[in-house]
Amino acid sequence: MWATSRGGERDGYCGVVEKRIGNTVINTCPNTVTHSRMPILREEERVLDQHFLHFSYVQGFTPTQSDSALFIQFTTPPHHSFHSLHRWYTHIHSYGTERLKFPGPKHTSLSFTFNNTKVTIMVNKTTDETGVAAMDSLSLAEKDSGQGQGQGQAEDIVDPWNVQASSNKGIDYDKLIDRFGSSRIDEALLERFERITGHKPHHFLRRGIFFSHRDMHSILNRVEAGKSFFLYTGRGPSSDAMHLGHLIPFIMTKWLQDVFDVPLVIQLTDDEKYLWKDLKLNNCHKLAYENAKDIIAVGFDVNKTFIFSDLDFVSGEFYKNVLMVQKHVTFNQVKGIFGFDESSNIGKIMFPAVQAAPSFSSSFPLIFGAKKDIPCLIPCAIDQDPYFRMTRDVAPRIGFQKPALIHSTFFPALQGAGSKMSSSDETSSIFLTDTPNQVKKKINKYAFSGGRDTLEEHRELGGDCEVDVSYMYLSFFLEDEARLQEIRQEYSSGRMLTGELKAELIKVLQQIVKDHQERRKAVTDEVVKQFMTPRPLNFTGKS
Ligand code: TYM
Repeated sequence: MWATSRGGERDGYCGVVEKRIGNTVINTCPNTVTHSRMPILREEERVLDQHFLHFSYVQGFTPTQSDSALFIQFTTPPHHSFHSLHRWYTHIHSYGTERLKFPGPKHTSLSFTFNNTKVTIMVNKTTDETGVAAMDSLSLAEKDSGQGQGQGQAEDIVDPWNVQASSNKGIDYDKLIDRFGSSRIDEALLERFERITGHKPHHFLRRGIFFSHRDMHSILNRVEAGKSFFLYTGRGPSSDAMHLGHLIPFIMTKWLQDVFDVPLVIQLTDDEKYLWKDLKLNNCHKLAYENAKDIIAVGFDVNKTFIFSDLDFVSGEFYKNVLMVQKHVTFNQVKGIFGFDESSNIGKIMFPAVQAAPSFSSSFPLIFGAKKDIPCLIPCAIDQDPYFRMTRDVAPRIGFQKPALIHSTFFPALQGAGSKMSSSDETSSIFLTDTPNQVKKKINKYAFSGGRDTLEEHRELGGDCEVDVSYMYLSFFLEDEARLQEIRQEYSSGRMLTGELKAELIKVLQQIVKDHQERRKAVTDEVVKQFMTPRPLNFTGKS
């Protein structure tokens, strides 16, 4: 909870009282140095983060002068692990100097309490106007990377539309965890997973391909208590040929469905692709049905899986949830999260609510009846996380549970780990429709090699598995752990040459693509109809 006042005293972290006068703190704690320009401290950020978990603004759900005043106290953006606070900060930043016009009185102090810790932040009125100008001369990215303090570093770009590493070593996933405020999938989680399910974790989990999560422990707690949850994932149908990268979340989802015996909903966002791409509406709808065939070919159980096109399904209880999300998220919030601006079409601005709605069980009354509280687990690559940061932010405010997530790394482009395999760049991708010869040619021609320039050098120094795309692809698709280790040793010692590594990969991928094509042939229009008909599902998991 927040409080405002005209003077200030606060509890110090060593249990003694600190006083702040303007931006100067007089600290009676013997271990703390007195400083004149008070940055917001980590402990304070923690309390603020809890506040913004429940409220959009300092004083509830409308921006006031208190937001403007608090914002200006940050000399650098809050730590990324404080996701709710960071979201608030980005959002207030997006107002620019408009925030000077927020309504409400200007206070001299703001107090926040969480778990018996009270934090009072003194707000110096005179820094307000001058401070706003100074901070706004830096872009948010500059502030984020600390350039304002002379310690700048380019950041990887990861959002639903762009994935671009800032260095040729590829995306720094550890940094992303920090920036997005998620948690690493660590040994302890994997051990717990195995103990509770009795299944050895999938090699995507063991090898760190799924590397990050939100609230996976809560899902496991629930399973431990004999209760169920549901899975939700999706696809934006922008072309009739999906690529190998798209398979990753679906393979993981199928495995999770088999292990937990839970219902699964798969959203086909034909509406999203119409809004973002130069495609006709009917074409997007058709592509959704084409892509459904590829998804079904991954092997989902028709008794437990509902696949839907937004164009067909968004109505009734689902649409009510879309509206609730829309009402509780402002334009400024989605601007901050997705980078929309005044020239974005208004369909884009409302769309994130459509991707949020399947996270709530009440969107599917035929599957869950009136139950509003069945938790959801979403497997996806980390590019989709902005949608679900927004969803998790709004969920408690509309009486729903936050969805849990597991995030995968990107299946890299053939050209290297600096970007993801993407349908918009044909030469970056191996498509599920490629012939064995196309697979062979693409790998031989484009797959970035970590091999050395000459045979002598390669034999002497060995290949570099950290940048070699063929090796990376094998780590996704070669299940045989012993063979993968052997290849790693052979290649990095120089005994195996790039051509030999590529030949091994070509065999593996040709088989995967061929098997997929055979399974897809068996998916008739009738089978698609079964999966895509709204209906109750059969699953044994209890709720
Ligand atoms: P879309 O069609 O871009 O991608 C579908 C799924 O594939 C993942 N993905 C990748 N994974 C690994 N390596 C890659 N190179 C790669 N490229 C894409 C995406 O993260 C996604 O999981 N808006 C979404 C559709 C959607 C959705 C969802 C996705 C709606 N609801 C819920 C995940 C979860 C989209 O356009 O995905």
